[in-house]
Amino acid sequence: MKNFQYYNPVRIVFGEGQIEQLADLVPNDAKVLITYGGGSAERTGTLDEVRKALSASGNREVFEFGGIEPNPEFNTLLKAADMVNEHNIDFLLAVGGGSVIDGSKFVALVSSLTDQDGTVSREKAWDALTSYTRNINSAIDLGAVLTIPATGSEMNSGGVVNHSERQAKLPFGNSLAFPKFSILDPTKTLTLPERQVMNGVADAFVHVMEQYLTYPVNAKVQDAFAESLLKILIEEGAAVKADPENLETRKNIMWTATMALNGLIGTGVPQDWTTHMVGHELTSLHSIDHARTLTILLPSVLRELKDSKIDKLLQYARNVWAIDSNTDTKQDDDSIIETAIVKTENFFRSLGLPVSLADAELDESAIDPVIKQLEAHNMVKLGEHGNNDLEVSRRILERSLTSAA
Ligand code: NZQ
Ligand code: ZN
Repeated sequence: MKNFQYYNPVRIVFGEGQIEQLADLVPNDAKVLITYGGGSAERTGTLDEVRKALSASGNREVFEFGGIEPNPEFNTLLKAADMVNEHNIDFLLAVGGGSVIDGSKFVALVSSLTDQDGTVSREKAWDALTSYTRNINSAIDLGAVLTIPATGSEMNSGGVVNHSERQAKLPFGNSLAFPKFSILDPTKTLTLPERQVMNGVADAFVHVMEQYLTYPVNAKVQDAFAESLLKILIEEGAAVKADPENLETRKNIMWTATMALNGLIGTGVPQDWTTHMVGHELTSLHSIDHARTLTILLPSVLRELKDSKIDKLLQYARNVWAIDSNTDTKQDDDSIIETAIVKTENFFRSLGLPVSLADAELDESAIDPVIKQLEAHNMVKLGEHGNNDLEVSRRILERSLTSAA
């Protein structure tokens, strides 16, 4: 295991009815800006619950900013940042999924980057995004009410922002962006369309894989946690498909997705974010849902990088899919690994998710533009060894044209 520091200051408030805790969690005298997405929070009544809880005590002034898109748009977020300055907001409350929470983190980080006229400098904010917000050293406090289990944004300090005009979807991270608290009420997920539920299960699954499926460093806690999370997602993915109203299933999915990307299983181990980084380009070029880009790419990433990941792939086959090399001596390592990858693909398919570019109605003409964008965004040394250059990414995309199984 490598040396590490683990720091996670996010207070998780989990369970049905917990939105009312906002009355205690948000400072009494705060000037609050509630941020939300395209309208689901209003439609489902969650926003009303939030408004009620905030006015139940204290002397808060509450403003609202709606319309943050899935894959939150840079320009929209800067409008929110201008609103922060206009009203001297000192607390952001994100009500929504990864897009709203990520977007609000970005707002929290960039709203102090003003021009002389008091508006947030588009140029400085863009520079901040392209440098991963590394140099930002102050931020507005932020809390979250999570409505879709998927990204882990509720308990981490990262995010992803899309800039459509520049065809760029870029990640950022800064420890000032950890939410002060996140409320996880699993009943809020019951209104999700099936597509979003399945996207969430797959996104969380791939988050675990990107931190687990590299090479062994004898990190027993991280490996065992990761394998458990994968098995829970496989089980609960099927369960939620069969019985979407089951609240116990929703609870487990929600907590699993949070644990999948709150830093814990990624401490002290190598990580490989190739699937995500190539996937972001597919989203920005073709507006494919984030999770769907991942299910298209992950099987090809595993096949292409099989040699460098062989030990972990065998461990994955054995511990997650119960493919036992001892009881089936006829299976060599290659076929054990291929069986595990096919099982992974079938799991994604069973959730109604695409496993090839063809499934997303793309063909080989999609490949060159993705490579060009990866180059433009300096995504040229991906993977746990930094060896995944543009040629490797090209081969991954070629393998993804049609499903191998
Ligand atoms: O916009 P509204 O109307 O609210 O509708 C949303 C949106 O259309 C809807 N929705 C959310 N909660 C709902 C609901 N509909 C009904 N009932 C509810 N309770 O769901 C749609 C998708 O929402 P979104 O927030 O985009 O989904 P998700 O949580 O999957 O977030 C995806 C974004 O997170 C980024 C992705 O790149 C993408 O931009 N990621 C963030 C990460 C992080 N911060 O660590 C890591 C991830 O890898 C990921 O990259
Ligand atoms: Zn993701």
